[in-house]
Amino acid sequence: MADRIYNFNPGPAALPLSVLEEIRENFLDFRGSGMSIAEISHRSREFDDVINDAVARTKRLLGLNDDFEVLFIQGGASLQFCMIPMNFLPQGKSADYVDTGTWSTKAIKEAELQGKSVRVVASSEDKNYCYIPQNLTFNDDAAFVHLTSNNTIKGTQWAEFPATNDVPIICDMSSDIMSRPLDVNRFGMMYAGAQKNVGPAGVCLVIIRKDLLDWIPDTVPTMLKYSTFAAKNSLYNTPPCFAVYTIQLVLKWLEETIGGLEKMAAINQDKARLLYGFMDGTDFYRPTAAADSRSLMNVTFRLPGEELEQLFVQQALAKGLGGLKGHRSVGGCRASIYNAVSLEAVGALVEFMKTFAREHG
Ligand SMILES: Cc1ncc(COP(=O)(O)O)c(C=O)c1O
Repeated sequence: MADRIYNFNPGPAALPLSVLEEIRENFLDFRGSGMSIAEISHRSREFDDVINDAVARTKRLLGLNDDFEVLFIQGGASLQFCMIPMNFLPQGKSADYVDTGTWSTKAIKEAELQGKSVRVVASSEDKNYCYIPQNLTFNDDAAFVHLTSNNTIKGTQWAEFPATNDVPIICDMSSDIMSRPLDVNRFGMMYAGAQKNVGPAGVCLVIIRKDLLDWIPDTVPTMLKYSTFAAKNSLYNTPPCFAVYTIQLVLKWLEETIGGLEKMAAINQDKARLLYGFMDGTDFYRPTAAADSRSLMNVTFRLPGEELEQLFVQQALAKGLGGLKGHRSVGGCRASIYNAVSLEAVGALVEFMKTFAREHG
């Protein structure tokens, strides 16, 4: 088998090695069942234990009380862009959206496609989405405020969430869920495609305040209603069992090996400080996000030319540092340093960057 590399992919992304090893160890015989987790019934006691433990760990890690439901829904975060207005934005009501690029732009489009009333209360489009808008005012009569906590592509992140006068925030946390503690009571709903910080592709983790379930119109199709998933513990139909199982193991790692979200956040800050700190001390690497809006998860940067950027990505891979190419829509380079990417990996990246700058600067 080839050696494992330092994986800076944006998603699907690095998973903790101990989780992968645990999957491998149990893959042919899940808990003495004589079957793989990929073969057992989603109605079995074994799978019930898995999904219930994943829910319990999500609640403990985030400090959620029983006012919240934890759901697992297929279709990725992208399906949520359309389900949210379908479920929570009736005719006659309007919702406030903040456009911080790419994913929020898509979320806005999905609401508008349904003829829903959307107010874009702030946008950072004027500067190619390189910053998070500040000093925002929201409408008191908005059904909800929609935010994207971290823009995976532009490398921006809300350091603090804005005040919304009790209007519930619905937040796409795909690329930073579980990376830091949250004041969960600010949120009506949090959702995250699992494939960056909590598991493999194929499932979206959705956390919903129960009272929002009462808003859902009866006319929403069954599989697009959050209440369908809430009523059946995400087992109305066959869930993505393997993906949920992997999430359970990642959450166990977060709780038992890392020691919770405070500790995870401190490690994430150390990693980001190391990488941004190094780049700020050079003329060769230029972070693209405004300094006060920098993402602790996706560090986007440019080199002095596109050819050098290509060479950088290639040579990094040859040294065992993968996934450093920027998103095709923006170019440049990007190091995604999610929870499962260690400080050691970031240290190795910085050492490589130093050498590369010396040789090509
Ligand atoms: C912040 C954010 N939201 C939404 C998505 C879309 O997620 P999915 O591919 O699960 O639909 C992504 C994907 O990269 C993302 O980074």
